[in-house]
Amino acid sequence: MKAIVCTQLGGPELLELQERPSPALRPRELRVAVKSAGVNFPDSLQIAGKYQMKLEPPFTPGAEVAGLVTEVGSAVSQYKVGDAVAAFVPSGGYAEECVLSVDAALPLPTRLAAADAGGFPLVYGTTLHALKQRGQLKAGETLLVLGAAGGVGLAAVQLGKLMGAKVIAAASSADKLALCKAQGADALIDYSKESLKDAIKTLTKGQGADVIYDPVGGALGEDCLSCIAWNGRYLVIGFASGPIPNLAANRLLLKGASAVGVFWGAFAVREPALNLANFQQLFAWIEAGELQPYISARYPLAEAGRALRDMMDRKVTGKIVLIP
Ligand SMILES: NC(=O)c1ccc[n+]([C@@H]2O[C@H](COP(=O)([O-])OP(=O)(O)OC[C@H]3O[C@@H](n4cnc5c(N)ncnc54)[C@H](OP(=O)(O)O)[C@@H]3O)[C@@H](O)[C@H]2O)c1
Repeated sequence: MKAIVCTQLGGPELLELQERPSPALRPRELRVAVKSAGVNFPDSLQIAGKYQMKLEPPFTPGAEVAGLVTEVGSAVSQYKVGDAVAAFVPSGGYAEECVLSVDAALPLPTRLAAADAGGFPLVYGTTLHALKQRGQLKAGETLLVLGAAGGVGLAAVQLGKLMGAKVIAAASSADKLALCKAQGADALIDYSKESLKDAIKTLTKGQGADVIYDPVGGALGEDCLSCIAWNGRYLVIGFASGPIPNLAANRLLLKGASAVGVFWGAFAVREPALNLANFQQLFAWIEAGELQPYISARYPLAEAGRALRDMMDRKVTGKIVLIP
């Protein structure tokens, strides 16, 4: 099978397309012909040796796939050859074939094709967990989303609306904000042109945002705490801008607010039943036609490096996937 291989730690230009042997199948695993593989920001960190979970080269990056089952392990009874599944995997997604634990597999709903689902588990799994279990978002509350046209950001815009929130999308260009509006955002802030905290104060009539979803971090993350509402929840999603924000504890005190960490990968392992319930909710929204995952670009597998570079250069919106 063909697979993208990280032979040395560094930038995406170093990735190679190679012919690799098919991985062996253990009793509780599925072999899947990959129809689409999600490209995610952490992949760029992992190939550079900067992610919290480190892998030694050579390895195949890629944390999520969707495809068709081609072989089931001897201890697997709940899937059969031909079933469409998606999964979050430790690595190995950027390949024609992927072997994954049966516990990680999610049976796809009929309205979500495997060719479109490779970018689904991570961003939607993270975002529903963040808004529901961590942020306790309630209908009628104001949700501020930073990096709102990015992978997890756009999922937060969509899910925030489905949960009945008033969604304020914040991003760095008019084009990105136009996409957020098309996906349901109620109000828009271009933080490359205007002060984030001033704009939030104006939009919320001085009340601030009830829930802040922050995958960007850095100075923007620090700014947000000046415009959080009483009892607000600031969700620590990630640090796409690089620096980890220094959160001002005095602002949390003054607003009776909380800073809440979100780590979906660990949640999925520690609380599998709740994670499964979240996906049942997500798939129900898809089956009802209320949620349509947004993919802005599809790249051939061989162009994984270009896909990652486009993402690192902030050129992409929503999700991008590789098509083997
Ligand atoms: N906690 C979890 O469980 C979890 C799960 C998934 C992802 N994450 C984290 O969430 C973050 C975003 O992931 P993603 O897949 O949504 O990434 P993405 O699609 O690349 O989106 C990130 C957004 O951040 C903004 N940004 C600001 N400065 C940037 C910079 N220097 N480089 C790149 N983007 C920058 C960009 O929006 P503007 O141009 O509009 O500013 C971009 O759209 C990452 O840090 C990732 O590790 C966390």
